[in-house]
Amino acid sequence: MKLLFATSNAGKLAEVRKMLAPLGWDVMGLKDLENPPEIVEDAETFLGNARKKALALREATGLAVLADDTGLSVEALGGRPGVRSARYAGENATDADNNAKLLGELATVSDEKRGAAFECWMVFIDPSGKESVASGKLSGRILKEPRGAGGFGYDPIFLPYGEEKTLSELSIEEKNLISHRKKALAGILSALSVK
Ligand code: IMP
Repeated sequence: MKLLFATSNAGKLAEVRKMLAPLGWDVMGLKDLENPPEIVEDAETFLGNARKKALALREATGLAVLADDTGLSVEALGGRPGVRSARYAGENATDADNNAKLLGELATVSDEKRGAAFECWMVFIDPSGKESVASGKLSGRILKEPRGAGGFGYDPIFLPYGEEKTLSELSIEEKNLISHRKKALAGILSALSVK
């Protein structure tokens, strides 16, 4: 099966390609399209943004499309950055900018109050337009400084509960065993009755 994964984030694409490799699915990303449509992620929920991307890309390409929208909710910040995770430090914020802003905001917050969770919502639409939805969550806490060189986004400052390594210090295979994205994808595959 040929699948378009609605992302231009190389880290996300690498994770999902690895997850789907055992099924033999051919996974393309947005950078593989000649003229990807411009999609503004302005919905108020993760599901709204994931669905918006999936619908627009199926319409534009006729391919089976998988879209995810993910964010980090920090307890001490009342759930922020949440749906604004990508642009937390500003319109053109880099991962390093977002991590620095978050660490700054939590500078005086003690270890016990640094709980946080990634939430991932996924929408799959097959070429006939049939839609499946699933979500996944990963809980942990925000460290006081970044650790590790792998992964992307908030991975270097996120320590999953029960782990000694940050998401950046884990290999892709290790992150894929526990991640919010893997749990969401498992839900989609189960809805599609794919084993
Ligand atoms: P989006 O789902 O691509 O819109 O991502 C929203 C924000 O969350 C971006 O800043 C991403 O870098 C970050 N993000 C998404 N997934 C992950 C992850 O698995 N680990 C760390 N950061 C992530």
